[in-house]
Amino acid sequence: MQGALGQAPGPVRPAASLSRGAARRLNELGGEGAIAEGTAGGTQPIGPPSQAAANPEARSRESSSQEGTSQDPRSQAQHSQAQHRQGEANLDSPSQAAASQEGVFEDSRLGASSAGERVVDPGTIEEGAVRLQAGSGFFRPESRPSRDLGVLLAQHLAAQRRRDRPEAPGLRVLDLMAGCGIRSLRYGIEAGAAGVWANDADPDRLALLQANLAGFGGGRCTTRTAQKLLAGCLLREQRFDLIDLDAFGCPSALVPLALEALAFDGVLYLASTDGRSPTGHDRPAAIRSLGAAARAHPASWELALRLQLGVQARAAWVLGRGLEPVFSFSEGRTFRTAVRLRRKPGPQAERLLGLLAHCHGCGDQQVQNLLQLRQWRPCLCPDQANARLSISGPLWIGPLQDPASLEAMASAPGADSASLSPAGARLLVKLRRDDGLPARCWPLAELAKRLGGGPPPLEPLVQALRQQGWSAQASAVMPAQLRSDAPWDRLLAVAAHVSQAGAAPAPHDAALNR
Ligand SMILES: C[S@@+](CC[C@H](N)C(=O)[O-])C[C@H]1O[C@@H](n2cnc3c(N)ncnc32)[C@H](O)[C@@H]1O
Repeated sequence: MQGALGQAPGPVRPAASLSRGAARRLNELGGEGAIAEGTAGGTQPIGPPSQAAANPEARSRESSSQEGTSQDPRSQAQHSQAQHRQGEANLDSPSQAAASQEGVFEDSRLGASSAGERVVDPGTIEEGAVRLQAGSGFFRPESRPSRDLGVLLAQHLAAQRRRDRPEAPGLRVLDLMAGCGIRSLRYGIEAGAAGVWANDADPDRLALLQANLAGFGGGRCTTRTAQKLLAGCLLREQRFDLIDLDAFGCPSALVPLALEALAFDGVLYLASTDGRSPTGHDRPAAIRSLGAAARAHPASWELALRLQLGVQARAAWVLGRGLEPVFSFSEGRTFRTAVRLRRKPGPQAERLLGLLAHCHGCGDQQVQNLLQLRQWRPCLCPDQANARLSISGPLWIGPLQDPASLEAMASAPGADSASLSPAGARLLVKLRRDDGLPARCWPLAELAKRLGGGPPPLEPLVQALRQQGWSAQASAVMPAQLRSDAPWDRLLAVAAHVSQAGAAPAPHDAALNR
């Protein structure tokens, strides 16, 4: 017999008290009554495996019985009265935390995983400090590092909120495409969020979401399309400290509404599974979905992240807001960025949008910001008449990571607990070492191709470039890539030296100095 859903059994974790505290804090907000069937903690039996909607938009139901109390005019009026001053708690009222519930699931597709979560019974997942059912819809054990980082981020944001606004209720989280609700549950149990709204457009997911969030008292479950949910938030001026948008495909259309639903200093944690358009494999689609040119580039995952950040920066700026990346990463299939919304754009923020040029002939790369756009300088191709630069953008040319936030995440309670899997910990270490500047990255294999022989050793090359006065670091985004501000000819010269000597050149090697 499987155990109750919610918090995983085993050693007592700090999150246990946070969970009860979160429920209490949310109860103290008072408010609008129970959330009916849409509230986690319901006792609906688990139905047959979900017939995952091919088109969730079309299948989403609008009835209040499906989605809770938001259709209630009294509740809507209360919303608009109290509301929703920025920074105020504005999730709907809490459920009465239901007694834990044993689910009955027929799905047994899950097998053992190397990603760090434990599959205890067929269909039951234990990940971090939570236990829940996967159901028959989408669930990827391999995405665990991204969920781990989300939990650490939520812990960091919750701590900031306690420090900056001790009088305000705790962290408010919106999980827009929740799937089985694993992120919601982890934000609630492990990060101590005061309120979590778990939503997925697939109506067959409601009972599963409710059952999975039953052990967490501050949860609300709905099955709206993200578009409709966010439009409702806009009308009610309802805002969150963390929005998780773990999308299928390209989520550009949702970005402006999601930013509108963020409190100042809140974070949008966005995922896109569209790998073709932002990596130069579907140029017309990139223009349609990203408003940008995307050309084949050796640092293709980074290009995709920068285009995604560019879309978000432009959306924030037209709203009069500012935006700062917290972290950005990809495993080549999903492109994930976490960005913090600021009240205003930072000084000279416009210089962070630009173009990235790559010459397929000689391998040179150049970056320009849009504000000071001018002629591209000649690349290294001997015959400039035939030189052809492939230009991508507009895209984000600023940092990809915020070292201060990553450091705070690394010191968050979850970093020392079951919340952080070994793969998640490795990712965090990598991101902390590379802030993403400058936006010029080359694969070691490309250096090898240009120089002949095997790829130069990465770490000695980094050290050698630094000794020559250039910035250099291993890319955190793609393996076996080097980031540097060294001009291409110097970079090649240092790489040749390192390859031949097997060691760094002397600091003042005249042949290599600028
Ligand atoms: C990538 S999965 C989410 C996975 C989940 N966050 C996790 O970590 O396991 C995307 C989910 O979005 C849902 N979905 C697709 N289009 C949607 C929309 N327009 N609004 C809300 N949910 C949507 C799908 O039903 C699917 O469950």
